[in-house]
Amino acid sequence: MTAKVVTLAVTGASGAPYFIQLLRSLLESQVKVNLLLSSAAKIVIKTELDIVLPDSEANYKAFFLEYFLGSDAQNEDSQSLLNVYSKDEWTSPVASGSNPSSAMIVCPCSMGTLSAIALGASNNLIERAADVMLKERRQLILLTREMPFSSIHLENMLKLSHMGVTIMPASPGFYQQPQSVSDLVNFVVARILDHLDINQSLIPRWGNN
Ligand SMILES: Cc1cc2nc3c(=O)[nH]c(=O)nc-3n(C[C@H](O)[C@H](O)[C@H](O)COP(=O)(O)O)c2cc1C
Repeated sequence: MTAKVVTLAVTGASGAPYFIQLLRSLLESQVKVNLLLSSAAKIVIKTELDIVLPDSEANYKAFFLEYFLGSDAQNEDSQSLLNVYSKDEWTSPVASGSNPSSAMIVCPCSMGTLSAIALGASNNLIERAADVMLKERRQLILLTREMPFSSIHLENMLKLSHMGVTIMPASPGFYQQPQSVSDLVNFVVARILDHLDINQSLIPRWGNN
């Protein structure tokens, strides 16, 4: 069976902790990740987390592998787990329907990127990769975040939902009585992993207590 490859796009909506926990979970599950970050995403990550990204995107792969896997980062297996592509890297696998990922998640998804995907703009690699998933009818998940939503946002989400896209608003439930921000983040990431069909033990399942 072909290994699962997930494209994880990060855009400039609030919610960098969701991205960090999702990438950690994917790498720990040995899922191959194609990582794409928008310019605004880098600003939000810096604003919301005590993470200082390298100046050059060329160093992102080494940085994230070291951040999540520590001394295992140099292993050949670890090195093959993650690829990071810049916004105009049109020669990357995610840019073509001939080499699509098993699934793509935009986490978090800004209203700007939501709109571009709904229009089929394909003006940067994130928008193009999402467009590829749509045309190839592959799994696409958008972790949308804004408050409140305008009619434009809602119409864009409805349009994409009708096309088979899973719209997951970043809205954790409270019925597990979360004790920390981490519990809230894990609630959302667990639901994403469930949809990606990746085993997770971040939160207990309802009804299994
Ligand atoms: C700290 C911060 C938080 C933001 N939060 C949101 C948000 O929750 N939702 C949203 O749609 N845009 C948010 N924005 C605005 C987007 O980053 C902006 O519209 C940007 O153009 C999105 O570009 P991108 O989709 O290429 O990442 C935020 C910006 C900053 C700096």
